[in-house]
Amino acid sequence: MSTEKKRILEEMASLMREIEKHDEAYYVHDTPLIGDEEYDRLFRRLQELETTHPELASTASPTRRVGGKALDQFVKSKHGASMLSLANAMDPAEFSAFDERVHRFLELDPEKPLEYFAELKFDGLSINLVYEKGALIRAATRGDGETGEDVTENVRTIRSIPLRLRGSDLPERIEIRGEIVLPVDDFVRLNREQELKGQKPFANPRNAAAGSLRQLDPKITASRPLTGFFYGIGEVKGWTPPKTHAEYEKTLESWGLPVGPLRKICNGAGEVVDFYREVENTRDSLPFEIDGVVVKLNQFTQQQTAGFVARSPRGMIAFKYPPKKSVTLVEDIQIQVGRTGALTPVALVSPVNVNGVIVRRATLHNQDEIDRKDIRIGDHVVIQRAGDVIPEVVEVLKERRRGDERRFRIPDHCPVCGSPAVKPEGEAVTRCSGTRCIAKLKERIKHFVQKDAVNVEGLGDKIVDQLVDEGLVRRIPDLYDLEFSNVLPLEGFAEKSAQKLLTAIDQSRTPELYRVIFGLGIRHIGEATAKLLAQKFKSIEALAGAGESELLEVGGVGDEMATSIREWFSHSENRSELEELLHKLEIQAPLSSGLEPIFAGKTFVLTGTLPGMTRSEAEKLIEDRGGKTSGSVSKKTDFVLAGEEAGSKLEKARTLGVRVIDEQQFRSMLSGN
Ligand code: IVH
Repeated sequence: MSTEKKRILEEMASLMREIEKHDEAYYVHDTPLIGDEEYDRLFRRLQELETTHPELASTASPTRRVGGKALDQFVKSKHGASMLSLANAMDPAEFSAFDERVHRFLELDPEKPLEYFAELKFDGLSINLVYEKGALIRAATRGDGETGEDVTENVRTIRSIPLRLRGSDLPERIEIRGEIVLPVDDFVRLNREQELKGQKPFANPRNAAAGSLRQLDPKITASRPLTGFFYGIGEVKGWTPPKTHAEYEKTLESWGLPVGPLRKICNGAGEVVDFYREVENTRDSLPFEIDGVVVKLNQFTQQQTAGFVARSPRGMIAFKYPPKKSVTLVEDIQIQVGRTGALTPVALVSPVNVNGVIVRRATLHNQDEIDRKDIRIGDHVVIQRAGDVIPEVVEVLKERRRGDERRFRIPDHCPVCGSPAVKPEGEAVTRCSGTRCIAKLKERIKHFVQKDAVNVEGLGDKIVDQLVDEGLVRRIPDLYDLEFSNVLPLEGFAEKSAQKLLTAIDQSRTPELYRVIFGLGIRHIGEATAKLLAQKFKSIEALAGAGESELLEVGGVGDEMATSIREWFSHSENRSELEELLHKLEIQAPLSSGLEPIFAGKTFVLTGTLPGMTRSEAEKLIEDRGGKTSGSVSKKTDFVLAGEEAGSKLEKARTLGVRVIDEQQFRSMLSGN
């Protein structure tokens, strides 16, 4: 190598080290050492050298964090060691029972306190990082615990996760487990942006983190301020871990990985409960969500001795907090009209912070609930958010009443269209009986275009409201008649966005049958039932003509669903709207087997005798779901389904690294796991 090249390589290496140091200071420790300008200068210099000398650029360069090419789909990635789950303790008594169990298992004196390591239970998405000789070579989601999805390109964009570990005594290979989270402030900001873009807001920071990480386009992930915390260990080669969990996390920290901010070695269960309480008091001021603390035997040898029960280590437990509650004032009660005309009372409350999310509305479900809890306008109430954005009222603080609170009754007319509201005998829900109710129409359209139905990308709630309010869409089929000149004048639209919307509508013209069935919004028919119905009837016309008894033949369809389907098709308005819709759509019929193509593109090889099914039965199960079977194992084989006395094919699968499954695993794949 020329001396000039050597010099450049050295400069690159030194820039990388420098940038990594600043990334760690900024993203892991929250204490920047230099200003943005200085940082940008280093970054740009490195980029410049990499552009002029691409052959010298390192794959671990921090410039690669911007997100590479988009993928078509995620590749599966098998974990070296399984990713297990944790048992829960819901209160100190349950924790104490855990402590006693562990003593028994380790055959230790129950009076002698055990040494525990306690830390936060991050409410995010678990991740498995693989580092080889210090370089991040793979990142995968948990998946089913054995195999996850390869999200390496996305994880590379997370600035707090080092692309190279710092230090010298690094393992040949190590799996490091942790949790990817989205801080609450960023979650709130992201949701605001989602709504502006007409996209559905995420229900909570965990879903937002998962949605951001599982993006096929790494550039989108790069734009989301994800971070991670690391605490776990999987497969290790060429390295001896320390003796305790506390030391292990210190090591992770020294390698430059972020670890939880609150950690404690506790001497006995009492100290653990103290820690649990302390953390509970600071929970609200943490920048990210937690749902408990995790408690682990600190000594690795003790963890090993304790072993496992089911899929959880006996020496660890998730010590959870009850759902977060807050007190606020019911300022008013409003009626929200749903897709099926359900009039749902919603409490408008004084804005209150519940677990970092500002809450302004809480559902009251229906009149019976209001009466049972005796909720009145002007009441102080306890609201609870159990993971989702729309919280509910748990109880009324009656002692805070002053006498001027007002009772509320759901009106007997729809507040939007004025049609009579009806509450059938024995049902809890009051419904608008109007056939031309604009509120219902809006909700029906929103339901029809959502991702799990025909999926019109970018057609969010606000745009639907506009289209209906402007009289451009009076029935669902009208969507497909929209023209550029209709959309362009709408507020917030420009040429590009109008065209984009029309393209998205156009792309939804060839939906799979089940998406249309689900999209119709028939009461009680969710996505799963829609799939079953599509499999059985294979066309809308057949479904429309099906009698009650035929409907009941579909596994999973009960009386209530069958009645609801019959009723939906018996309305002439529904029928005529549907007929018009069928002219606009080209519906894709399901596979001839009618089953979901879960094995599409996958090749199986069968070997040995399966305990519970014949070979031809297994073949049919595979083919009915779009998969292929082959007689010999090659690199192209996706699965070898092995029974008893499996011979050379099994061996070949092992040498080629093809995934081998047994009948039980096969059955669990069939049932959708
Ligand atoms: S230790 C056997 N520590 O909680 C699994 N898990 O409910 C060992 N989690 O799958 C996990 N924070 O994704 C551990 N400090 C923490 C954690 C934590 C969050 C997640 C993890 C796990 C789930 C179990």
